[in-house]
Amino acid sequence: MFEAAAATADLIRKQVPEAPEVALVLGSGLGALAEAVEQRVIMRYAELPGFPVPSVAGHGGNLILGRLGGRRVAVMQGRAHFYEHGRADGMNLALATLKALGCRRLILTNAAGSLNPDAGPGSLMLLRDHINFAGVSPLFGLAGNERFVNLVDAYDPVSCDRLAALAKRLGIPLAEGVYVWFCGPHFETPAEIRAARVLGGDAVGMSTVPEVIVARMLGLTVTAVSMITNLAAGLSDESLSHEHTMKHATAAAGDMQRLLSAFLEDLDD
Ligand code: HPA
Repeated sequence: MFEAAAATADLIRKQVPEAPEVALVLGSGLGALAEAVEQRVIMRYAELPGFPVPSVAGHGGNLILGRLGGRRVAVMQGRAHFYEHGRADGMNLALATLKALGCRRLILTNAAGSLNPDAGPGSLMLLRDHINFAGVSPLFGLAGNERFVNLVDAYDPVSCDRLAALAKRLGIPLAEGVYVWFCGPHFETPAEIRAARVLGGDAVGMSTVPEVIVARMLGLTVTAVSMITNLAAGLSDESLSHEHTMKHATAAAGDMQRLLSAFLEDLDD
């Protein structure tokens, strides 16, 4: 896995003036955030061996390098999902490549359903932990002791506290909670949502968890923020669909952009 990542990192390095220090993954409906990247160089995933070519509307399939919040960033506009091919390792090589390029941090965003009626559509939720309800790992098949990844504090608590403080300062409401990963692509049943609430979940979604696991194996510091696009199945009368997700994700993308830019500016490592 890592030799291939080193080769793709070399290929990228030749095309950009400066190596990135922070990697960002943009979820459904958040692709426009990439337009805020200054001095940007855009590469198609299809040209980058190991990067996933997305099949989901709203997932651009570009790697964008440049500056955001004064930081050198590599922005993944679109991600691989388990439900696209039944494998959880679709982001492994891309994340290993960004690590090989020099990234030490990873910021993940996604669209998610809320289990908490107080955090409704249009709100942001900072993730403090997760529950892997899909029951699979991006590390299946790897050898060596590195695969036994410790996931305590996987969502860096210091970064979480900083992000929460920044949101308060900027007047951006920011809920907090535990993300429950369901495999998708179907939405959950109301019974599954009731179960997820009993188990301690606050948001549900179809991504992010495999990326957190592989990023922690790579030693990246991880922060994740969900864009709440709906109340989860059975918690409201709204009918869930991908179109609904996209519409609501786009509506609150401005808050996400302001918050993440401020977070990048605030970093001191
Ligand atoms: N469930 C799973 N994934 C989602 C949802 C949801 O309710 N909303 C946006 N992504």
